[in-house]
Amino acid sequence: MSIKGVIFDLDGVIVSTDEYHYQGWQRLADEERIYFDREINERLRGVSRMESLEIILEKSDRVYSQDEKIKLAERKNNYYRELLKKITPDDILPGVRNVLEELKRRSIKIAIGSSSKNSPTILERIGLDTCFDATSDGNDIKNSKPDPEVFLIAAKRLSLSPEECLVVEDAGAGVEAGITSGMRVLAVGSAKDDKRAHISAKDMDSITVDEMLDV
Ligand code: BG6
Ligand code: MG
Repeated sequence: MSIKGVIFDLDGVIVSTDEYHYQGWQRLADEERIYFDREINERLRGVSRMESLEIILEKSDRVYSQDEKIKLAERKNNYYRELLKKITPDDILPGVRNVLEELKRRSIKIAIGSSSKNSPTILERIGLDTCFDATSDGNDIKNSKPDPEVFLIAAKRLSLSPEECLVVEDAGAGVEAGITSGMRVLAVGSAKDDKRAHISAKDMDSITVDEMLDV
């Protein structure tokens, strides 16, 4: 079946927010005296805020109550949102603009499928808030990637079946979500060596729309 829609993950695919997520978590971990490093940070890619916090707390000796955990996640989010103020359209990753324009020219539908609750803010800051035919994000879902929910909602909002969609992902959890949802998957960036994906590329500048639609 030919591809009629492309669902893009946001963080790490459209825009590089990874460093800001990392800095937000690092500040929180330092304040709580919890060991945290870039290797642990890699495990947070694609997973929800609360699940990310659980991964960070694996290194803590203290047991936090549910209320305390919610406050910790809020604190990190405030640090992160402060950093997000620096994001501009110049932070859109290489090749993304061209790919989006070419897909539109060919009448292929485009959507966002992101675990982030900050997705609407980020899209606005980079000037792409009216660019997509549909968006599905952390505010719409009960289960975060690797659960397929976020992509299935995006496909439904595009009025397409999963078989008609291609997912673009930079996280292992997202590649898995795309496969489980019955969609084809293009892995980029950090996920480019993930063997479960149907195709892969270093970034969106290293693949043509013909190659994307030919999977
Ligand atoms: C994903 C990121 O896109 O969004 C994760 O890859 C992040 O690292 C998740 O934890 C949730 O983001 P937010 O903005 O809702 O805290
Ligand atoms: Mg991502």
